[in-house]
Amino acid sequence: MALRLARVATGKPVVVKFDHHFHGWHDYVAASSKYASHAPAGVPDSTMESVLVIAATAEAVEETLAARDDIAAVIVEAAGAASGSEPLPEGFHQALRAATERHGVVLIFDEVVTGFRWSPGGVQQLEGVTPDLTTLAKILAGGFPGGAVAGRRDLLDYIAFTEPGQAKRAKVGHPGTFNANPLSAAAGVACLREVADGSHQQRSAELAGRLRAGMNGELCRLGIPGVAYGQTSDLRFRLGVPFHAEATDYHPRSLPQSVFESPSNPEADRLLSLALLNCGVFFFGTGGFASSAHSEEDIERTVEAWGDALEAVASEVDFSA
Ligand SMILES: Cc1ncc(COP(=O)(O)O)c(C=O)c1O
Repeated sequence: MALRLARVATGKPVVVKFDHHFHGWHDYVAASSKYASHAPAGVPDSTMESVLVIAATAEAVEETLAARDDIAAVIVEAAGAASGSEPLPEGFHQALRAATERHGVVLIFDEVVTGFRWSPGGVQQLEGVTPDLTTLAKILAGGFPGGAVAGRRDLLDYIAFTEPGQAKRAKVGHPGTFNANPLSAAAGVACLREVADGSHQQRSAELAGRLRAGMNGELCRLGIPGVAYGQTSDLRFRLGVPFHAEATDYHPRSLPQSVFESPSNPEADRLLSLALLNCGVFFFGTGGFASSAHSEEDIERTVEAWGDALEAVASEVDFSA
């Protein structure tokens, strides 16, 4: 809906997205450099013609917006690709805001994961940047089916019905099974009341920081190359990359680019997941989130399980290779 609003408001068709940034499986956001020579399965080539995939740098943004006059919107995962697995450079949000404003392009922050989690006002509050539109989902509905587009009134007016007697104008439709779903709305209101003062975010970020530092302590103790890192309550890890973590927490912006660009070792990650399960811990792939419902003891147990699982994996995988 955010993309449609941007197209209607600007009268232009093209959407710019950043490589590796995930915005769901909608046809118009599925493009990525891995589909350079063909569209993803089931997506028509004609769809891809109105999506431009660029690198997440201020230079690429400026160059692209200056070169074309058919761009309606730029959409960005506000914490970086895959919810912060690959961070955005310092100052990027501000540069993106300035460039989109200068070129009359609608700026959309995808805060589906980060909205209310990174802070009560999402990444945009922390970065001090207000986009034109924000997309929100699960957190807004307290984990139930639901979502929202928030933002500038003049843009959102395109979903409004015209009043009787008013001149008709373009309207973006939004019919749907979950519209006005009372259960989602009630769960959302309850959740938003809980997270409004920021104390849950602060507590979960503290626990995640402790977890990341503890996990890095184990990597350091065992001499295994890799690092656990993250922003706020988020946790990511990369094993076998050319980086030896110290027993401390790392924000992704403090890490060398090689940590994100080095190929992963899916077999090591798979074995680690299994070893962690044997130790009673389930991670979400190569990461996860801390919650304010976790306890200090949960964090300690997880770090201990991580150390034991790493030892088990290191007996089967040569990380120096
Ligand atoms: C950053 C981001 N944007 C968009 C989506 C899509 O959300 P939905 O599945 O509710 O369409 C996801 C799903 O996880 C996501 O992580």
